[in-house]
Amino acid sequence: MNIQKTLVLIKPDGVARGHVGDIIKRFERVGLKITAMKMLQPEASAADKHYALTEEWMQGVFTKAKAKYESEGKEFPYSDYKEYGGEIKRGLVEFLRSAPIVAMVLEGEQAVPLVRKIVGATEPLSAAPGTIRGDFSPDSYPLSNSQNRPLRNLVHASGTPEEAKYEIDLWFTQKEVHTYEHVLDKALYDPAAFLPVE
Ligand code: CDP
Ligand code: MG
Repeated sequence: MNIQKTLVLIKPDGVARGHVGDIIKRFERVGLKITAMKMLQPEASAADKHYALTEEWMQGVFTKAKAKYESEGKEFPYSDYKEYGGEIKRGLVEFLRSAPIVAMVLEGEQAVPLVRKIVGATEPLSAAPGTIRGDFSPDSYPLSNSQNRPLRNLVHASGTPEEAKYEIDLWFTQKEVHTYEHVLDKALYDPAAFLPVE
């Protein structure tokens, strides 16, 4: 077994559009356990720390957007990954602080990749149908770049177990993260469940 914890934020667009319930439902129905949850309007420092402006992050943000433009035969209008990454980060911090968000910790087998799968690709327009981003938004890199704002993609989800640990510690105290027995624990993880009747 590889039980993991992961952090999800329902971003301001997800809350303001009334999709909190729709989003939580998708995590509950796959069998994830909610172990922490709260609504808050982030302080600048938390929003700033949440998106750590590392070389790797700036390059990732730049490369993903550039590849999408090029796959459509369009030229990407930015050439400097630091400039683009810095702009995206500034916009993201402002976006995250603009209105209340819902933060939660989800726990379960391979919770980090499982939640990423349910959330879908970064750009809603190319996120697969059935994913949160794919089903709830038509936003795209060209639209968001032309409006000088980050993508409105409803949800943040940790990318790796290390990122999850950092982010959970950033948004929650240890006391706010709960341990409890869930009815699904047995059905999903107990090898003694569903044995033949003697
Ligand atoms: O959220 P995800 O892990 O899928 O993507 P990321 O590369 O970690 O970027 C974090 C967030 O920055 C995204 O969810 C978008 O809201 C925003 N972003 C953007 O607006 N434009 C980009 N070119 C890249 C990211
Ligand atoms: Mg990310």
